[in-house]
Amino acid sequence: MNAIEIRGLSKRFGNKQAVDGLNMTVPEGAIYGFIGENGSGKSTTEKMICGLLHPASGSIQLYGKDHTDDAIRSQIGVLIEAPGCFPNVSVWNNMLLQAANLEIKHPEEEIAKVLKTVRMEGAASNKFKHCSLGMKQRIGIAMALLGHPRLLVLDEPINGLDADGMRIMREILTDITQKGNCTVLISSHILGELEKIATHYGIIRHGQMIREMTAQELEADCPTYIALRAGDGTGAKSYLEERYHRVAQEENGTLRIYDATRPEEVVSFLYEKGVTVSEVWTAKISLEEYYIDLMESRRAQA
Ligand SMILES: Nc1ncnc2c1ncn2[C@@H]1O[C@H](COP(=O)(O)OP(=O)(O)OP(=O)(O)O)[C@@H](O)[C@H]1O
Ligand SMILES: [Mg+2]
Repeated sequence: MNAIEIRGLSKRFGNKQAVDGLNMTVPEGAIYGFIGENGSGKSTTEKMICGLLHPASGSIQLYGKDHTDDAIRSQIGVLIEAPGCFPNVSVWNNMLLQAANLEIKHPEEEIAKVLKTVRMEGAASNKFKHCSLGMKQRIGIAMALLGHPRLLVLDEPINGLDADGMRIMREILTDITQKGNCTVLISSHILGELEKIATHYGIIRHGQMIREMTAQELEADCPTYIALRAGDGTGAKSYLEERYHRVAQEENGTLRIYDATRPEEVVSFLYEKGVTVSEVWTAKISLEEYYIDLMESRRAQA
């Protein structure tokens, strides 16, 4: 069953069409990376999924039921923008207030559990205002996890986190989906991080879904290439173009060969031409490069 199935979703603010006939399918158990430029409609879509905004048209089905269904609504955890916490109140008491709002039966037990999930059990007595950004984001996730949601909607939860904060967040999200049987919809501009955890991707542009794919499909769509550095003025690029079909040069001068060949073959070919290669390695197109190429081709078509 799909956790989220959206068809023809639209929303307008004044004369701005924020979401424009959007389709989206998020399978159960996925970590779905929701990607798009600033203002492309990610947060608006997420708010409609969570019932924080009313769609103008279209349908949102969550686990096979309309998203306005009360039973389904109570199974969604949300972190959009910052968590709604009182700055002068401790993390624990903030959590207690949220648990009371949600009418959770055994709040202490559950709060202890979700704080453990987000590696925050040691900070329960801290005032919220004294928590770092990374801690606040994790508290937001802990709050969203109260009540055992089946679906977690996270709007840019990894913004501004340092390397360690990112790593912890990755572990938390993987735990939540694998051990907690939860589906995660996560929007982010930090594509290098998203690529490490997402199982599915949706790319939105001008309020429309322009591509949806699994991580495997992305992998298959992202070719490997041989990269090399040779000195300027060696003519390496022209020589390579004589022999290989797909040669490109990065801004920093690195040459790329996308043809199916081996690094040693390329190096010895250039050596025969009198060009010394100082470095050679193989690499793969990243999600970020894939995304930038896709956006550029869309802009060129427009
Ligand atoms: N409450 C609102 N009133 C008026 N316009 C809005 C409102 N919310 C969003 N918009 C507009 O709708 C469009 C989509 O905004 P949205 O916040 O969904 O984009 P986003 O993809 O989340 O962008 P970002 O990556 O910057 O967070 C933007 O042009 C935005 O200015
Ligand atoms: Mg947004």
